[in-house]
Amino acid sequence: MVVASSTGTGPNHVAVIMDGNGRWAKHRGLKRSEGHKKGVVAVRELIKNAVDAGISQLSLFAFSSENWRRPALEVRLLIQLLNNTLENEVDDLHQNGIRLKILGDLERFDSRVEAMVRNAESLTADNQVMNLNIAINYGGRWDIVNTIQKMVAGGCSSDEISEEAISHSLSTGGIPDPDLFIRTGGEHRISNFLIWQLAYTELFFTDTLWPDFGKGDLEAALQWYMGRERRFGRTSEQVVKGEH
Ligand code: FPP
Repeated sequence: MVVASSTGTGPNHVAVIMDGNGRWAKHRGLKRSEGHKKGVVAVRELIKNAVDAGISQLSLFAFSSENWRRPALEVRLLIQLLNNTLENEVDDLHQNGIRLKILGDLERFDSRVEAMVRNAESLTADNQVMNLNIAINYGGRWDIVNTIQKMVAGGCSSDEISEEAISHSLSTGGIPDPDLFIRTGGEHRISNFLIWQLAYTELFFTDTLWPDFGKGDLEAALQWYMGRERRFGRTSEQVVKGEH
C-alpha cells in the first residue's frame, strides 16, 4: 500500500461510518443481524489494513445515540454483538499493539459493559501501533453538550471557553482531528458523528456496502485523499508556498 503517515502524505486519523449492513443482508435474503456479523469481519480486516497503511488513529461509528430508535430486537442483537466482539477481540488487539478507546455515553448500558470497556482500555493503554476509537452510544451533539456541561461544572468562566478548551474536553481530547472521513453505503451524511472534529476533514463517500469494504476500498479512499489539497481556509497559492 502506498501510504505512510510519517511521510506527511497519508492521513494520520481516519474516521469511518460503516453503513450498509442491513442492505447487504437483504440483498442475500438474510436477516439484518447477519449483515452486522459480516460487518464485524470487515472491521477486523480494516484494522489490519489500517495498521499496514500506517494510519495512527482509526475511529469507527459502531452505535449512534439515534440507533436506539431501531426495532428493539435489532438494538438488543447489535449491543450483544458489540459487547461480545469487544470482549473476544481485546486480547488480539492488545497482542497487535492496538490501543482501544471507547467514545460515547456508557451510562445507558449495564455496569458490567462499562467495567469490561474500562478494563480493555487500561489493558491496552500503553500500546503504540495504532489507536482504535470505537464510538458506542455516541452523538456529536451529545459530545459538545457534555463537554460544555463539564466545563461549566468545573467552574470554567465564559472567557475560558475557547475552541482549544472545547477540543481538549471532548471525548476525543488529545486525539488530533480526523484527516479523512469515509462513509460506506451510499448516503452522503455525517449523521452526528464527530461533528466538531470533522470541521476540516476531507469527506469520502462510497456506494460499497460495509460488509464488502475491503483492502481495495481503503486504498481507493487513501488515493483520493492524497489528491486533495487541504487549505484550512488559506488560498491555494499559500498552500503551494507552504505558508501556515
Ligand atoms: C450500519 O448498517 C451499521 C451499524 C448501525 C452498526 C455497525 C456495526 C458493526 C459494523 C458491527 C461491528 C463494529 C465493531 C466496531 C465491532 P445499517 O444497519 O444501517 O445498514 P442499512 O443502512 O443497509 O440498513
